[in-house]
Amino acid sequence: MRRLGILTGGGDCPGINAVIRAVTKSALYRYNIEMIGFNNGFKGLVENEAWLIGEAAASGILHRGGTILGTTNRDNPFSFRVTGAAGELSYEDRSADALRHIDEWNLDGLIVVGGDGSLTLAHRFTEMGLPVIGIPKTIDNDLGATEVTFGFDTAAATATEALDRLHTTAESHHRIMVLEVMGRNAGWIALQAGMAGGADIVLIPELPFNYEQIIAKVLQRRSRGKRFSIVVAAEGSFPEGLAPVYRSSGGGRKKLGGIGEIVSAELERRTGLESRATVLGHLQRGGSPTPFDRVLATRFGVAAVELAAAGRWNEMVCLQSGTIRGAPLTEAIAEIKRIDPGNEQLRAAAAVGISFGCQLPVPRQIGSR
Ligand code: F6P
Repeated sequence: MRRLGILTGGGDCPGINAVIRAVTKSALYRYNIEMIGFNNGFKGLVENEAWLIGEAAASGILHRGGTILGTTNRDNPFSFRVTGAAGELSYEDRSADALRHIDEWNLDGLIVVGGDGSLTLAHRFTEMGLPVIGIPKTIDNDLGATEVTFGFDTAAATATEALDRLHTTAESHHRIMVLEVMGRNAGWIALQAGMAGGADIVLIPELPFNYEQIIAKVLQRRSRGKRFSIVVAAEGSFPEGLAPVYRSSGGGRKKLGGIGEIVSAELERRTGLESRATVLGHLQRGGSPTPFDRVLATRFGVAAVELAAAGRWNEMVCLQSGTIRGAPLTEAIAEIKRIDPGNEQLRAAAAVGISFGCQLPVPRQIGSR
């Protein structure tokens, strides 16, 4: 019987379990391939913490958030964190251990479910001869080659629900409400949720904003009798001439965060209107996947096994024009997918009055050539 490995790396997102289920079931049913799961991303591969994912473990998890394999966004096999006897930290290259464990488990190849960090590591392993298939996973939707990653739809749905809730309280109190959402250096969650949740102002990292434009929008609304305003701020958004805001977090790693509070305070100071900020945080990563994400994750999982069975290694499954395909892993990780100023969705949002806190270049209409 043939065997494949699977690991889930980086920040979790809703739909990973649906992928594990689809990979395991389709591998078994269609190709008689066994799946070996490595716990906690590349850490499990380095430390050989692995198990056979049978049919039972893959059952009943379609709707469950998180990942039954566990994950980490810290452990890089090429610079692996080692804690010494006295608690001191050092880093060593453990990639050879990882490859040895692939051999010991007799695996034909490895399926890596990850975002750009995990898929970049996966790519480094392909250069050492390890056959890999990638599956794009991130709420941020910032991976190249695919139109959408699984997890994004659920995160955007959670952010939309938050906006619906903020709307009613904003209206009652005649306040400005600022919702900070995740997304790293891409504004996909902010744009999607802002549009779906009827936000008045959406701030995204791709378009540095200025406060005058935001205030103009708030005041314009007031002149039309709307005494509240809803602002969505992507965590990576920032004012013109400044840089994204970071908050420190455990392990000394830099983490984006804090712009929502800054924008809220600045708007209150400059307009004299009451303003409140909410940081949605990891609520966007937890919980059950939406039907869209369950189905996309299932299609990705099935396609990943198909690619492996066909020997099409070093590709990532992706969604292009509604169809699941394989694309070179290198294409997926070449650069982060961000919102282009000419993006049609961005234009549609602007056309219904959403302000991006800046002057957009002259719109190109769909009918024009
Ligand atoms: O990449 C997914 C993501 O949720 C980002 O949107 C966010 O910036 C980051 O991960 C948060 O990471 P952590 O879970 O380590 O705080």
